Amino acid sequence: VCGSVLSHIPGVGSDSNLEEKKILCVGLACLDIIQVVKEFPEEDSDTRCISMRWQRGGNASNNCTVLSQLGVPCEFFGTLSKQQHLDFMMNDFKAHNINIDNCVYYDNCDTPISVVISSLTTGSRTIIHSNKNLPELTLEDFKKLDLSQYGWIHFEGRNVEEVTPMIEWVEMWNESHSSEQDRGYGLGHKPLPVSLEIEKPRAAAQDLIPMADVLFVSKDFAEFRGCTTMSETLRNLALDTKHNATIISAWGERGAMARAHDGTFVQSPAFPPNKVVDTLGAGDTFCATTLYGLSRGFSLQDCIFLGCQVAGAKVGIDGFVGLN
Ligand code: ADP
Ligand code: FRU
Repeated sequence: VCGSVLSHIPGVGSDSNLEEKKILCVGLACLDIIQVVKEFPEEDSDTRCISMRWQRGGNASNNCTVLSQLGVPCEFFGTLSKQQHLDFMMNDFKAHNINIDNCVYYDNCDTPISVVISSLTTGSRTIIHSNKNLPELTLEDFKKLDLSQYGWIHFEGRNVEEVTPMIEWVEMWNESHSSEQDRGYGLGHKPLPVSLEIEKPRAAAQDLIPMADVLFVSKDFAEFRGCTTMSETLRNLALDTKHNATIISAWGERGAMARAHDGTFVQSPAFPPNKVVDTLGAGDTFCATTLYGLSRGFSLQDCIFLGCQVAGAKVGIDGFVGLN
């Protein structure tokens, strides 16, 4: 079922002579320690798992895993600990052909780790995350990037104090450069569009909303804003975004909806697999696939439709390997 999904996506696997610019994903890379259980355990019980695995995780890092499978040149930009687990993380980035040339390495701190309980009965993923002491990226780190290498920058809505000036830096760069083609989505000839994903239900990330050209918001964040439906979410967020922003919201089994820059709405159903086995990173998969479409200028309707198709395929398999 999943095996064929990516091969049917327009452009995937096709030989293009155009030299394509990278998509840069800025955010977290962590280690996910995943224990697959038949049923979610009772508190204070002693359960044996069905299987366990380590997986490179973190939203921006997962976005890259999916982009790379879609054949998009991409780069992960974040901080990494030089201590334990660095080999695992670096080898896995390499295995997925994800560029990490500009990552910032820190001594004497730990790799962020998520312990994930993945339930086979429901496909639910329960995440317990820890980030003891790994410093976040700074504006100074960001300023060292050569922005002309990239065709799109995607930020995770975290580290707000530093990400705010990073986006301002990109905007300044955009003012002195121009794309040959109209990018669509009301972006005109902007060479380096900025997308942003707000997933965690935290107030701080709201400050970033007016900065994004394309805003992804999760169901959790929408509910935190008091919204109960996708359309309400899009109308609510439109009050705070740039006037020409595109707003996209994914809601698990309900699929996804988006508001285009001109105020029109498009929607896609979810595409459930025969059996939902692993929902860890479903949102990251949706986001990466939608970005793939946006960076190629597909219609907004097609972008979220593809996003839901690939995310639907992803929840039917363990991890991300095998989408193609
Ligand atoms: P998150 O990982 O952020 O919680 P969501 O649960 O909103 O993400 O899922 C993102 C997308 O993944 C949805 O829009 C949908 O297309 C797909 N998806 C998630 N869960 C399911 C499911 N149970 N069945 C089918 N598709 C799903
Ligand atoms: C999934 C994910 C996991 C990680 C967690 C961090 O969306 O990126 O890989 O453990 O979220 O919040």
